[in-house]
Amino acid sequence: MAVGAESAAAKAALRRRMLAARQGLTEAERSFAGSALRDTLLERPELTMGGTLAAFSAMGTEPPTGRLLYGLWKRGAYVLLPVLLPGGDLDWAAYDGPDSLAPGPAGALEPTGPRYGVDAVRRVAAMIVPALAVDGAGRRLGRGGGSYDRALARMPAGALTIAAIYDGELVDEVPVEPHDRPVAAVVTPGGGFRRLG
Ligand SMILES: Nc1ncnc2c1ncn2[C@@H]1O[C@H](COP(=O)(O)OP(=O)(O)OP(=O)(O)O)[C@@H](O)[C@H]1O
Ligand SMILES: [Mg+2]
Repeated sequence: MAVGAESAAAKAALRRRMLAARQGLTEAERSFAGSALRDTLLERPELTMGGTLAAFSAMGTEPPTGRLLYGLWKRGAYVLLPVLLPGGDLDWAAYDGPDSLAPGPAGALEPTGPRYGVDAVRRVAAMIVPALAVDGAGRRLGRGGGSYDRALARMPAGALTIAAIYDGELVDEVPVEPHDRPVAAVVTPGGGFRRLG
């Protein structure tokens, strides 16, 4: 098998394993993850000192981000959320409270306000992204759309990138392909905020 195909197959296998483990989480564990995510990240000066942030609306079994988004908004943070485009790239619009969201094409809640384009993230101070697994070097496995690889590639140098994952999803090694973009940190319910690499 070619090297690229081997990585793609390894990613698919790891994705299946991580998704199956998430299916086994209880509602209480998911809810706890959402509260821990909010409590941990609202304490991070990198996120609360001003500057535009990019984050995401959790879907399915992802760690819930509603409480984090609400907390950031209440503190006056300017938060961009993704709007999924045909082909998988991400446009961005502002979060302006829970009423500013409506379900998008993939089921995630998306902001309904004006869209600022795929390049809006070129000016953010930090981005919080979903992941199914991250390793100690920051290598990241997503759901397989390549959406966040494209968004992460547009981040300005020095901006903070954080993957929100459950305990047990910080793994020994994530297989990667050339287009994969790493993250600088993870936040987990049990371990809080950790810089990687
Ligand atoms: N910069 C890019 N430009 C165009 N397509 C890309 C880019 N990055 C990734 N892709 C596409 O996305 C596909 C899936 O990538 P990958 O398996 O890394 O997804 P993922 O990282 O799990 O998903 P996500 O980034 O949405 O969380 C790639 O095979 C590729 O076709
Ligand atoms: Mg990827």
